Amino acid sequence: MRTPTPVPSQTESPDDEDPQGLLTIVDKEHGLPPAYVPPGLVEIPLEWMAPGFPSWLLRREAAEALVVMLRAARAEGHELRVRSAYRSYWEQAATFQYWIDLLGEEEARRASAPPGHSEHQLGSTVDLTSASVSWQLEQSFGQTPEGQWLAAHAHEYGFTLSYPQGAEEITGYKYEPWHFRYIGQDQAVRWAESGLTLLEFLKQPTD
Ligand code: DAL
Ligand code: ZN
Repeated sequence: MRTPTPVPSQTESPDDEDPQGLLTIVDKEHGLPPAYVPPGLVEIPLEWMAPGFPSWLLRREAAEALVVMLRAARAEGHELRVRSAYRSYWEQAATFQYWIDLLGEEEARRASAPPGHSEHQLGSTVDLTSASVSWQLEQSFGQTPEGQWLAAHAHEYGFTLSYPQGAEEITGYKYEPWHFRYIGQDQAVRWAESGLTLLEFLKQPTD
């Protein structure tokens, strides 16, 4: 009789090396199971959401670091808000389809991840915006004082810019100055010092 192949729990991170999931590689090649839901999701307080947007969810540690970062930005005169955070596999499927309908599949794949392949499913990633770009997600955000503050300081709070300018061949995605992934403060500082894209940094062998 054939021995059935054990089926891994659909709610576990596929990355045994990183049970916390903060360093899990998620790109066009590495995906998450449809039923993967990160542990400890909490609501981001409404005051930090872009006007008209409901409270999105984020893993507790990332949500706490986010609020510390947004308060620090505010103290320096930069008002930043959240447009998107945790997206389930099925929410990502709808998002991806929206972009395909709008742009066609080839262009959509440069801007939006297929379901199972978005860092947003990890529950540690946020899209940030400001009034300077009418609370939209657009590349000109990178030239605004708010976008520049984030580019310079996000790592101090544990956040990394996943899709920098001029790195589409490595990351698979066009420049997204608004998309920040939390990997913890120590790792984010190491990432910033490395000068690597986040994907290259996460793929480095660890000792
Ligand atoms: N926009 C990024 C690539 C995502 O869909 O996760
Ligand atoms: Zn994003």
